[in-house]
Amino acid sequence: MKFRTKIIILTTTVVAMVGLLMMLSIRGTIINAFRGELEKKAISIAGNLSDRIADLIPLEDNFQITQAFNEVLIKEKDLEYIFVTDEKGSLFTHTFDDGPPEDLLSWNPLTGKEMNVQLLETEKGYIRDVGVKVFNNTKAELHVGIREDSLRDTLNSMRSITLPIIGFVILMGMIASIFLSRLVTEPLNKFVDFTKVLGRGEFGKKVEVSSGDEIGELADSFNNLSMELKTVKEKMEEAYTYTHLLQAEKLSSIGQISAGLAHELKNPLAALKMLFQAYKDQPDMTAEDAEVITGEIEKIDNILTRFLGFVKDKGTNFSNVNLNNLIDRVLNLATFDIQSRNIQVHRDMLETLPLVYADWALLEQVFLNLVLNAIEAMPEGGEIRISGKTDESFVEVMVWDRGSGIPDEMKKKILDPFFTTKETGTGLGLSIAYNIVKTHGGRLYFSSSEKMGTVFTVRLPRGSMDG
Ligand SMILES: Nc1ncnc2c1ncn2[C@@H]1O[C@H](COP(=O)(O)OP(=O)(O)O)[C@@H](O)[C@H]1O
Ligand SMILES: [Mg+2]
Repeated sequence: MKFRTKIIILTTTVVAMVGLLMMLSIRGTIINAFRGELEKKAISIAGNLSDRIADLIPLEDNFQITQAFNEVLIKEKDLEYIFVTDEKGSLFTHTFDDGPPEDLLSWNPLTGKEMNVQLLETEKGYIRDVGVKVFNNTKAELHVGIREDSLRDTLNSMRSITLPIIGFVILMGMIASIFLSRLVTEPLNKFVDFTKVLGRGEFGKKVEVSSGDEIGELADSFNNLSMELKTVKEKMEEAYTYTHLLQAEKLSSIGQISAGLAHELKNPLAALKMLFQAYKDQPDMTAEDAEVITGEIEKIDNILTRFLGFVKDKGTNFSNVNLNNLIDRVLNLATFDIQSRNIQVHRDMLETLPLVYADWALLEQVFLNLVLNAIEAMPEGGEIRISGKTDESFVEVMVWDRGSGIPDEMKKKILDPFFTTKETGTGLGLSIAYNIVKTHGGRLYFSSSEKMGTVFTVRLPRGSMDG
């Protein structure tokens, strides 16, 4: 059931109940007041009549008493009967057309009281019998019976007035509840629609509800939520693309250095092959031979471990990094390219370069790309210089080459993702390097002139975790 229907049903029921209770309590009040009046009237009639006939009873003037009774009966439409008993308590005169009921005297005996009212339930409805003493100290009593006919008439006419009123009130209540429910459900519907919008992932939109009450507050917090979701989503997308690009560039570097790996493995494998060949021809192995074999296997193992170390993705992992060791590793990974392209590497790094707090694997990727770029800028071979120095707060490592240089019109673009001038390039190396250095709180910049060469500088904040 819709929220709105519920509100309407609820309000209408409440209004109807209130109307009904009101009618019942009004009815009760009217009945009580009416009965009170009726009783007073009967008592006064009985009193007057008893005064009037008091003298006639001892005279046994039946005729005059009957006349007096009839006069009153004609005047008072509510009266059902009148009767009177004599001093001894026997029925004296009455107005029952078909003779007095047998148990008449037991209806409301006064038994010593001056006056008594008794409610009788008869075929003609409720009748109030009011009995009064005619003489003190005798059994002469006068009784009048008064009906509630006019009460029924009054109640009937009241019903014909109140029922339409109650109907009207209920109708008004329904109309009011329809308006009320619209007031509440309209913004609620907007909220429901809005959650659907959020569910579709359309963050950053706003729900258009403006009011100064709780609903307005709810709208504000909904809108804040929407904005926060938008920021989180953007951040996540950014991170997602970044990790993906990082991975792509890494795969590219792996491709590049695995050629070197194959080459490096060639020598120890060739040595092993020779030894085993010899062993086949002459199957007695000397201790020397065994040592050589172990040595060659160790070499292979080392090469593979080094390579696997680079391939493995360990996730971000900050520690104190010695940049001298890191450059050793990078040059090691690039050994094949360096040798096969006839490159001389000159290291000019301070032995006491301070530690930096960094992610080893990420920095490895930065420097590997700078070194590979430098090699690729010198297809005919040449010199790479790597220098490292420090000042109070930073450590700087520079990678120099005497290659082709970067034309001025290209300088603005080389840090952009996917900008490459190489046939098999990804164009990601520098943009990733730039971001890695930035997240380490450092800077990456370069200077280059055509034909003279290029220098890339990586500037990182010095200092290890423990000071
Ligand atoms: N040392 C360098 N000398 C000359 N040009 C360079 C050097 N380093 C980078 N570049 C230029 O910047 C471009 C982008 O480099 P990079 O982002 O590493 O991508 P990729 O190496 O895949 O091309 C290169 O294609 C090249 O044109
Ligand atoms: Mg590159």
